[in-house]
Amino acid sequence: MPVLPVPDPPLTDDVVALRLWQTADLDQRLAGYADPEFERFTWSTGEPVTEARLREHVEQEERERARGEKLSLAIVDAAALDQVWGGCSVYDINLDQRRAGVGYWLAPQARGRGAATRTVRLLSQWAFDVLGIARLELTCAPDNFASQRVAARSGFFLEGIMRSYMRFQGGRRDTMLFSLLPGDLRDADRPDRQPTE
Ligand SMILES: CC(C)(COP(=O)(O)OP(=O)(O)OC[C@H]1O[C@@H](n2cnc3c(N)ncnc32)[C@H](O)[C@@H]1OP(=O)(O)O)[C@@H](O)C(=O)NCCC(=O)NCCS
Repeated sequence: MPVLPVPDPPLTDDVVALRLWQTADLDQRLAGYADPEFERFTWSTGEPVTEARLREHVEQEERERARGEKLSLAIVDAAALDQVWGGCSVYDINLDQRRAGVGYWLAPQARGRGAATRTVRLLSQWAFDVLGIARLELTCAPDNFASQRVAARSGFFLEGIMRSYMRFQGGRRDTMLFSLLPGDLRDADRPDRQPTE
């Protein structure tokens, strides 16, 4: 599979911008990963996120991009591109099946103003338009209510709960599965929205 394209210039809606991670972001990324909510819902190993582990993770992400499997981007302030608000990714990319997953996190100071919803909408539109994805999946823990709201506000529909779906922090965890088709994204703001085909 080819190296994934990178949004250039950054994807933006004039509030958030999504750009490639840079070396200078390391400390801000590390601070975001140290947040208990991030550790609770996102970091599956349960080990503390040290600088060494983050560097390994970054190298792994570069290999995944080169293999066409995952694109990881920084969520930054559109008015100050060096101010990291969080991170997002398109992952498990299967261009043959035209399917992929979308993930995100925000640093505590960037929460509560819709930045995650803006991010998911921008990234989803890009995945549909540029990668030709036909179905995006979003998964989260059953008790991650903020993330479930982000999914719904971005136009996703809940498909169900996958029991004991994944290894997580020394045990196993259920996962909620949401999906988004291009028409769902177009209708995301309609109060009477229904799943599209
Ligand atoms: C998930 C996350 C990105 C959401 O950030 P956000 O969009 O800024 O979150 P907000 O505070 O604006 O909340 C979004 C919605 O969830 C609701 N919400 C927030 N925290 C909540 C909670 N603990 N319980 C119930 N609802 C909650 C908000 O009221 C809001 O609802 P609204 O759309 O009806 O206004 C952020 O909480 C985060 O980074 N969490 C840790 C990492 C993570 O869980 N990533 C997702 C993994 S699937």
